[in-house]
Amino acid sequence: MTHEFGIGSTAHVRHGSNAGQPLTRRDGMLKVAGTARYAGDNHPEGMLYAVMVESNIARGRVTSFDLTAAKAHPGVVEVMTPKNRPSLAADPDLRPNPFMMRLDVLQNDRVRYARQPIAVVIAETLEAATEGAALLAPRYDVEQPRLNLDSTESFVPKVIRVMSPPEDGIGDIEAGFAAGVTHIDATYETPDHYHNPMEPHAVVASWDGDRLSIDMSTQNPTFTHAQVAYMFGLPTENIQIRSPWVGGGFGGKGMLASPTVLGILAARLVDRPVKLVLRRDQMYGSVGHRAPTRQRLRLSADDEGKLTALDHQTLTATSSFDEFIEPAGDASHVLYASPAMSITHRAVRVDMGTPVFMRAPGEAPGSAALESAMDELAWASRIDPLDFRLRNYSETEPLHHKPFSSKELRECYRQGAERFGWSRRPLEPRRMRNDNGFLVGWGMGTATFPAITFQAAARAKILSNGTGVVEISSADMGQGSFTALAQIAADSLGLDIEQLEFHAGKSDLPDGGIEGASAHTATAGSAIAFAGDDAIGKLAELATGDENSPLFGAGNTGVIARAGRLYRRDDENRSESYADIMARAGTTMIEGNGTCGPNPAAKSFSMHSHGAVFAEVTVDPDLGQVRVTRLVGAFAAGRVINPRLVRSQYYGGMIWGISFALHEEAIVDRRTGMIINADLAEYRIPVNADVPSIEAILIEEHDPYVNALGTKGVGEIGITGTVGAIANAIWHATGVRVRRFPIRIEDIILPHGQVSSMERPQSNTL
Ligand code: MOS
Repeated sequence: MTHEFGIGSTAHVRHGSNAGQPLTRRDGMLKVAGTARYAGDNHPEGMLYAVMVESNIARGRVTSFDLTAAKAHPGVVEVMTPKNRPSLAADPDLRPNPFMMRLDVLQNDRVRYARQPIAVVIAETLEAATEGAALLAPRYDVEQPRLNLDSTESFVPKVIRVMSPPEDGIGDIEAGFAAGVTHIDATYETPDHYHNPMEPHAVVASWDGDRLSIDMSTQNPTFTHAQVAYMFGLPTENIQIRSPWVGGGFGGKGMLASPTVLGILAARLVDRPVKLVLRRDQMYGSVGHRAPTRQRLRLSADDEGKLTALDHQTLTATSSFDEFIEPAGDASHVLYASPAMSITHRAVRVDMGTPVFMRAPGEAPGSAALESAMDELAWASRIDPLDFRLRNYSETEPLHHKPFSSKELRECYRQGAERFGWSRRPLEPRRMRNDNGFLVGWGMGTATFPAITFQAAARAKILSNGTGVVEISSADMGQGSFTALAQIAADSLGLDIEQLEFHAGKSDLPDGGIEGASAHTATAGSAIAFAGDDAIGKLAELATGDENSPLFGAGNTGVIARAGRLYRRDDENRSESYADIMARAGTTMIEGNGTCGPNPAAKSFSMHSHGAVFAEVTVDPDLGQVRVTRLVGAFAAGRVINPRLVRSQYYGGMIWGISFALHEEAIVDRRTGMIINADLAEYRIPVNADVPSIEAILIEEHDPYVNALGTKGVGEIGITGTVGAIANAIWHATGVRVRRFPIRIEDIILPHGQVSSMERPQSNTL
């Protein structure tokens, strides 16, 4: 049975396509009208409110609480501490698989980081729970915390990211470095970052005997489902998780977090439904963050501007009790050709919460350093930075000499540069001013992000009234995934998108996979496309085997599914509607199933999205204030399902890049380990006034290997390249090279050593 939407052909169907159209978000009205019901909006009968009490020391032991005062407060129902916490079936200090982090769920009196949950107050109202939490007044035995990259000995971790090796390389790095005529040996620093999605972690849990019903905010309902079952020792069929909408995740909601388990435990303890929603400041402790990095880059080039060595050494931090190693060296694996490469990671253990995936983990800080270093080496070689990158362009993945499944990076460079006007850029810094006399600088960076597919399943149904239904467990976390996935489904089912219902965000639906690693559209989309193919295949069998159908006997030539009808492929005058086929067969519903998994072709090909980002900044020569005035990004990420949404993803990623370059930094109190700026007023992120004209150019790319849809991820690539582009533009404006992010006024206007005792690169005065 073949038809136009068959496996392998799906990528190239254009006629009558929903995919490719710039549709607006299906859920847009629900969101702007405030009718989308997020986890914390739920309020089951008899529900109580839980508030976490968190440590305000980084290391030590809780010695006492004022339980009497807290319990005496009107409305307080119960206080949960390690002494009365209901038991768990699994040890929260074990880590059964790489996608489950160690948890802090009141297992004992140890404090391992500031803002670790140490008790939970449960009350009739949020106010009473909050007041009860304040009255609990914990006392501690305090130990000296280790809080920065210099506080302990570093070690080589077993794995970085999820399961990549910490060290990799080719050639003789020292010989390569010695062979170069220009050299860079520079150290770049990036700070702790926190995710800060608009919606904080939230859980509403209700027990009914040994059945558990949960509303929560998660990037991965099915996996969370399995993890909750494991922690509580319940069969998965006893647990129902609903997560239809997620107000941003950024990686912070990818794995089961301690507060979620505490909310469920609290409901168990009081045998009533309980809601636990984190306050904004509680988002700066137990639910992950991006660890700081210190990256040493040693690069050298020969007299033709070709790299002779690329040495990328990362030092980062993980918690005292678990390991997540920010894989900053990853960016260097895949971009530039060098006969000698060395990529290493070391980590130190600090008394902070365990880091986790966040907005291009690895590639974001890694490409910030690499792209800055490439710019520095280009200047040392007196070669235009774009030309310098083209000279070091690699047709294959440089570290393992694996061919790319596709790589339209040259086209990204060409179209981005042309749109930006790059050819008019003077090589020397401090050569451009605007009408106000401000210094103007232009910089660029290369963008890259892996194109992955995960495990997922989907169901697609055709109903006898000619409409379709898609079922998948994953949520829409704001990026418009339901819209893109519905477009894929509509094409696969041969239906108008308006004829399609989307059932999602529930753990009892087919596993939509993790919504992360920029892989969701490719992963869930492939499963949906195959499910639709399966349903159409079954429908076609009914028609082609039925003497009374105009399609009878078309089994060998195949049919085309379009706008609710099947057409004979060799004679489109012969067709029949889905409704008629199903009515005659006496069936009311046809169900198709599809799955997606890791792509076996990834063994033979290196699969990545690529891009190039060009930035313009102005710098006030008196005050050192930086403004990003223009950003142009050109990105190639396979087939574009929805250009409006894809552009919007690129804009978002590039704004993260502005944030990384100029704004974001969590400031750790060196005495207590608390984040001092744990709120959205002081944890700076770009506001509208910080975001200039942004353009994202969509470069066409045909990738026959990456997956059946031919589509690659667009969610995170925008932050890569952008950070370096802005840092390089600041250098080009001022002649000052700042190697510590975020780049601040004082770094630009003051010479070395005047601002703080932190190690700081040499810089010039304006
Ligand atoms: Mo993302 S950091 O893969 O949710």
